[in-house]
Order: sequence, then structure tokens, then C-alpha cells
Amino acid sequence: MKDVSTLTIIGGVNKEGIPENIKSIEFNKGEIIGIVGPTGSGKSTLIDDIEQLARGDTASRRHILINGEVPDVAIRVDPRLKLVAQLSQKMHFLADMTVEDFLSMHARSRGKNPKLVHRVLELANTLTGEPIALHQQLTALSGGQSRSLMTADIAIISDSPIVLIDEIENAGIRKQEALELLACEGKIVIVVTHDPVLALMATRRIVMKNGGMIDVITTTLHEQQLCYKIAEVDNWLLSLREIIRRGDLVEGTV
Ligand SMILES: Nc1ncnc2c1ncn2[C@@H]1O[C@H](COP(=O)(O)OP(=O)(O)OP(=O)(O)O)[C@@H](O)[C@H]1O
Ligand SMILES: [Mg+2]
Repeated sequence: MKDVSTLTIIGGVNKEGIPENIKSIEFNKGEIIGIVGPTGSGKSTLIDDIEQLARGDTASRRHILINGEVPDVAIRVDPRLKLVAQLSQKMHFLADMTVEDFLSMHARSRGKNPKLVHRVLELANTLTGEPIALHQQLTALSGGQSRSLMTADIAIISDSPIVLIDEIENAGIRKQEALELLACEGKIVIVVTHDPVLALMATRRIVMKNGGMIDVITTTLHEQQLCYKIAEVDNWLLSLREIIRRGDLVEGTV
């Protein structure tokens, strides 16, 4: 039951118990969906509802359907059947082990070839400016390095068809590449973001207010064109940031 072609959110109530404007919304395989809204508006709560495959049993009383049906109880409790992988706002590695041990353990537990660890590392290192080595301890990785490693791990080892990302923009990783990477292979990617590039890479974005889904905006053609321009500016800023980080002078490079 790893094949997910649609994910549906059936609306519940906002923080005041008033029914949400959006009664139902369906996402398709291969789609990137944005979630936007001010702080405290319920973005992480919506992500959590999807993660838990809510069935009217959370504060929002939303329901999540997979392929149009209420998912089987086994899917909620058995980690091997997990449909959802999450890259969360706060990420801490509890395990005190090396990058290599962690990745090969994960590959084995998923029935994958442990040799994949090299591909994961290679991919992770395309996303972070500070290369990760296999012998490094997980606990010694920087925030950007651990995000990059988890992104590559989700893309290559976990084959979860649904990926949830809560605010990747401040993580110090090449976020556009990370999002493109996760969106390929027919996954449904749902990303909480206020970053204009990431928000416009999404086909649609859900607008949150006061704990409820109040609107869904379809990215316009003009917005898609703007996205390329904004990405250019963004990449330029990223290169300036790297120059500053290296301790070099910005003058003469622009
Ligand atoms: N539909 C809802 N019903 C009841 N409580 C809700 C609902 N949505 C959100 N909340 C509560 O509101 C608070 C803020 O929500 P949440 O953390 O999801 O906001 P956020 O948009 O992710 O904020 P931030 O941008 O700061 O991360 C939480 O305590 C959450 O439990
Ligand atoms: Mg949040």
C-alpha cells in the first residue's frame, strides 16, 4: 500500500471551533503544496494532522484520506508502513552514532542495499556548503548539515510517498534544490514556507488564519515566471552569504 495517488484533507474547525472555509482539498502525486499564514495561524498543526493521519481525533477535528479512503489503522501504528516522512522545524539527533552507521542501519531496516549510504552522502553534500563525512558523529553535525542529510535520506532511503517540510528556509541548505529533489519521484510534498521562491514553486498554497484553512491560491503563470527571477536574486544573495561566511570581502565580487 505504498502507492499514494491522492491525499485529501477534510476540513474541521479553527481555534474558535468555527468550521473552516475550506471543506475539502485534494493533492495529487508529484504536486508541491505550500502552507502560508502568520505566526500562530496553525501551519504546524495542519502538518501534524497530516503526519498523524488525523481522523477527527485532533483539536482541529480534520480528517485525512489516502486515495479517497480512511487509511487502515495499521498504517498509523506500524513504522514500516509509514506513508509520511517529516522534515520538522526543530530537529535533533538523539542517536550517538556515526553518519555511516546511522545511514546503513536505516537502509537495512528499510530492506535497502547499505551501499546506498554513499549516494545519500553525495546528495547531502550537494545541498550543504559544509561537506559531511561518513565518520562524523551525528551529534556533531551543524543544523544545515543535519537538514541536508535528512533530505537526502528521505529522497533515497525512506520511500515515503508523502513528505512534510516545516520551514526549510533558515536551515542553511540549498532549499530550492532540496525541494526539487523531494518533489521528483512522484511524491506529494507539503511545505510550510514564507520564502517567495519556495511558495511559488508550489502549484497551490493553502492560506491559514486563526487555526483554519481560509483560502487556497493556485500559483498563476505570471507568478511562476516571477519565481525564476526571484530565484536568480536569491542565488545571488546566497553566493554573497557564502563570501561573508568564508571571511572574504564582498567588494570586487559584485
Ligand atoms: N484548528 C485548531 N484548533 C485548535 N487549536 C489550534 C488549531 N490550529 C492551531 N491551534 C493551536 O494554535 C497554536 C499555534 O498553532 P501552530 O503552532 O500550528 O502555528 P504556526 O502557524 O505553525 O506558527 P509558527 O509560524 O509560529 O510556527 C498551537 O498551540 C495549536 O495547538
Ligand atoms: Mg509552526
